[in-house]
Amino acid sequence: MTDISLNKKQIDDKKILSIISEIYENVYQQKDFEEYLPSIQGEIGFPTAKKYPFANKTAFHMYPKKAGEQIEKLTELVPVKQIYYAMKANSRHEILQEVAKKNAGCDCASVKEVQDALNYFDPKNILFSNPLCTREEIEQIIGLGVRKFVIHSEEYLEIFPQECCILLRIATNPDTSRWSLGNKFGCDKKSTLNILKKLCKKSFSKIGISFHVGSQNEHPDSWKEALEKANQLQKKFPKINVVDLGGGFPISYDNQISETFIPEVKQLVEEYISKETTIIIEPGRFIAAPTTILQAQVKSIRTFNDTKWIYLDVGIYQGMFEAVGNLKFTPLSTKTGVVEEVILAGPTCDGIDVISKKIKIPQTTSAGDFVIFENAGAYSIESRTQFNGFNSPEVIVHE
Ligand SMILES: Cc1ncc(COP(=O)(O)O)c(C=O)c1O
Repeated sequence: MTDISLNKKQIDDKKILSIISEIYENVYQQKDFEEYLPSIQGEIGFPTAKKYPFANKTAFHMYPKKAGEQIEKLTELVPVKQIYYAMKANSRHEILQEVAKKNAGCDCASVKEVQDALNYFDPKNILFSNPLCTREEIEQIIGLGVRKFVIHSEEYLEIFPQECCILLRIATNPDTSRWSLGNKFGCDKKSTLNILKKLCKKSFSKIGISFHVGSQNEHPDSWKEALEKANQLQKKFPKINVVDLGGGFPISYDNQISETFIPEVKQLVEEYISKETTIIIEPGRFIAAPTTILQAQVKSIRTFNDTKWIYLDVGIYQGMFEAVGNLKFTPLSTKTGVVEEVILAGPTCDGIDVISKKIKIPQTTSAGDFVIFENAGAYSIESRTQFNGFNSPEVIVHE
């Protein structure tokens, strides 16, 4: 039998778990142990909400420095010339400031975003990646000094000055990401070839290929498919000297993303894209999500046909709208003990205001308890509404 008379502080959580696992495997059947495991985890300080020292109120707790750390991580892992942070994920002043400090650029999708980004970034460091624009909007953005654009049709091609870098967005498989961008963007094969022929005849300073594999894409093979296409196009049109890998880099909401994910993408980039090519990326979620922790409160609980519904004071209208797109927001609880499967829903009178149809939470959870959602900084603070008269959580910024 293992000696458990160890100082807890000297051993890590994994070690504790393996010791307890050994004891319980000797005493109980494996199945009993697995059922008991969640309560052990809570009791010995495994990642429960208890580790967060927040006051008893609902709020987004933001740690902007984390954005900088994520940029450093990406710079180490992907061989990119420049990162353009997709500010649509979280355009808070503190985040943009941190991104600019790391010498990253900014990816904008509207005139307003460009105007705001100019408070932090030189126009040279702004990429305008939204191909859905009017002539007037493009002219305005050019007027603001931006010279890097993503297009997916030849509409308005004549208005871009020669010194522009023009990236043609190619379509990707819409079915591989949790938050699909569908078929709304990008060129099919025929128009890709037509437009590239025209682009190559013009004398833009740089010409490139851009793609986005869909947000929270958990399949490295999606990049493979797109990079293969980029590789073939580069062979056909040697003038292509930029490849934009888009966004889509996933965050581990439910601890399912492997550590090797980004290195796998890196390997694919090295395999398919020549060293002379300028490689850029437009990540949003990967940089913004880990900056913020959402603390929400249980408002009420009901059981319906043997299934427990737990209603929080935060739902899809208060910052968790991505739940409707199958994003796996996984709560931590301050309670410990045996867990059960429940439905987690938001506070409004709308039937779609459901965060998760199947989530595990300690059985003892009751009204007034707080739950924690980690990695809650992307597309959340940006999308809060006042729908139904409910206030959205305030944002508390930490050092
Ligand atoms: C054009 C474009 N670039 C970048 C992003 C950022 O994507 P992500 O947050 O998945 O990294 C998006 C997200 O929708 C996008 O539409």
